[in-house]
Amino acid sequence: MSIINSLSWRYAVKRMNGNKVSQDKLDTLLDAITLSASGFGLQPYQIFMVEDADLKAKIQPIAYGQPQIVESSHLLIFAAWNEVTEAQIDAYMNLIAETRGMSISDLGDFKGAIAGSMKYKSKEQQAEWADRQVYLAMGNALAAAAELRIDTTPMEGFIPAKLDELLGLEAKGLHSVLILAIGERDEATDYMVNVKKVRTPKSELFVQL
Ligand SMILES: Cc1cc2nc3c(=O)[nH]c(=O)nc-3n(C[C@H](O)[C@H](O)[C@H](O)COP(=O)(O)O)c2cc1C
Repeated sequence: MSIINSLSWRYAVKRMNGNKVSQDKLDTLLDAITLSASGFGLQPYQIFMVEDADLKAKIQPIAYGQPQIVESSHLLIFAAWNEVTEAQIDAYMNLIAETRGMSISDLGDFKGAIAGSMKYKSKEQQAEWADRQVYLAMGNALAAAAELRIDTTPMEGFIPAKLDELLGLEAKGLHSVLILAIGERDEATDYMVNVKKVRTPKSELFVQL
């Protein structure tokens, strides 16, 4: 099956060769990320794209010197909302109404369900909830990139507070959660290029009840 071929082809690349991902493939990857599922469909995040070499060089020390940061074609920085505000819920209701040709008043129950669920969460819990939606988008991005034969490295290995400061994320009501380096594997220098995948056996991972 092609999905298994794609997921077997991908791995977390340790060295990239600096080659650029074509605009066509990049656009498709961004479409796939846009189509990610999220709680209530709220997509409580923004994704910053970095192609500029100087900015990548500033990010590299924040990411413990990982070489993929500067060897990538692009970095996608996934930043989650710090909280879920009423204004953000209203903006989403407007988007639904516009997209589906509905009246805002028909969405009262849905708005109430989102607001009600958020009311029981502290600001920190709302941010954590938003973080979880980012991880889903990342999973989708990894699978879509594999299908497109774009190499990737998902990264938690960086200091979020420092990246937030560099990018001025606090002022935007955001905090960085994950970085996705995209590009092309450097077969000559990447020690992981031909290494077998290690996964928990299916017989342990899945339990028939
Ligand atoms: C959330 C997350 C964070 C990760 N952070 C890093 C990272 O900072 N640097 C890195 O080289 N790999 C990172 N990885 C890659 C994992 O180590 C890798 O996905 C795992 O070992 C499985 O191997 P595979 O993806 O190559 O199949 C991360 C993966 C995930 C899902």
